[in-house]
Amino acid sequence: MDYLYYAKEYLMNTYNHLPVVFTHGKGCKLYDVSNKEYLDFTSGIGVMALGRGNEKWIKAVEDQLEKLAHTSNIVLNVPILELAKKLTEISNMSKVFFCNSGTEANEGAIKLARKYSFEKYGKGRNTIITLNRSFHGRTMAALEATGEEELHKYFYPFPEGFKHTDITVEALEEAVDPSVCAIMIEAVQGEGGVNPLSSEFVHKVFEISEKKDILVICDEIQCGLGRTGKLYGFNNYNVHPDIISVAKALGGGLPMGAVLCNEKLKNTFKYGDHGSTFGGNPVCAAGAIEVLNEIADESFLKGVADKGKFIKEFFKNKSFKNIKEVRGIGLMVGIEIKGEASEVQKKIFEKGLLVLTAGKNNVVRLLPPLVVSKEELEKGLNIIYEVIESM
Ligand SMILES: Cc1ncc(COP(=O)(O)O)c(C=O)c1O
Repeated sequence: MDYLYYAKEYLMNTYNHLPVVFTHGKGCKLYDVSNKEYLDFTSGIGVMALGRGNEKWIKAVEDQLEKLAHTSNIVLNVPILELAKKLTEISNMSKVFFCNSGTEANEGAIKLARKYSFEKYGKGRNTIITLNRSFHGRTMAALEATGEEELHKYFYPFPEGFKHTDITVEALEEAVDPSVCAIMIEAVQGEGGVNPLSSEFVHKVFEISEKKDILVICDEIQCGLGRTGKLYGFNNYNVHPDIISVAKALGGGLPMGAVLCNEKLKNTFKYGDHGSTFGGNPVCAAGAIEVLNEIADESFLKGVADKGKFIKEFFKNKSFKNIKEVRGIGLMVGIEIKGEASEVQKKIFEKGLLVLTAGKNNVVRLLPPLVVSKEELEKGLNIIYEVIESM
């Protein structure tokens, strides 16, 4: 069967697929239709934190699938209640709203921030500051929030009330005016090129916000849930936001997103303010509980941090011709190169390894499953280094 022909013929052209069709996977390995093995340093873009085939996750999902696949939100189900308790407790937050994806989590976060401000300050205080090079999703408000003009150009008009700023203290101070109700950040920008924010900048965001009752939204969709060796990316900065959006790794491979809020916002949404047909699905929730059981554990997180150090060590003793910088935290790594990242990605793929690109096609991005072994890391890093430096 020529599946690549199917892709060309029947799928809209929104993705630049690598020419491979996968059938199954185990841990950090994926197998294509001819059973060729690949090592995966993408986790399906930050989703498969536990790798493929995690037995506890599969069992939880299968059991729940047999019992009850869907209810609706006019009633309740057991897994979503258990997940709500667990996720809010480990996140040190007060309440949660469940949805199906990252972009939806950010839409919820934006609505929540605006309602809080409207109720307290009235009309007109509704601007959300976001950062240049940020990525917050593809639906209209989340896309407008995304600080990347290239992604906006065909899709005007957007919802109003967003302001993009450079990532400097001066630009931030200039952007804050009386119309601002929230500042949204990724502690480590993912799509934008794996850019950890500076500690000075993050602390300024929180300082201004506290002074002016501006809410801080941390988009943890890519950098959260263990990716940086801490539960959340913002934990690397010793700060705590008013709103957290999560998705990707939460569902362990099933679509799930969530918006978490602190005490201040816990009664902001009232009946009818927001909703989702599939949000709070019991099968996704049953899987998510298993994801959190593994990730929200000090020794697991330390293991991720150690593997992050291992990657830094690997590059520390190497000489670079085509590599400009290796950056990131934990298992969220960006290798900025002189050439085109998509070309490097193709050559690496030919050697049986999957990596991502980011930034302006100048960054090779690694998001391996958090359960990756040091042997797998070393094998993959050698391929990456050799390919980049031989180009
Ligand atoms: C930081 C961040 N926010 C939001 C999103 C959007 O998530 P989704 O694709 O699940 O809508 C992404 C996806 O890459 C992301 O990295």
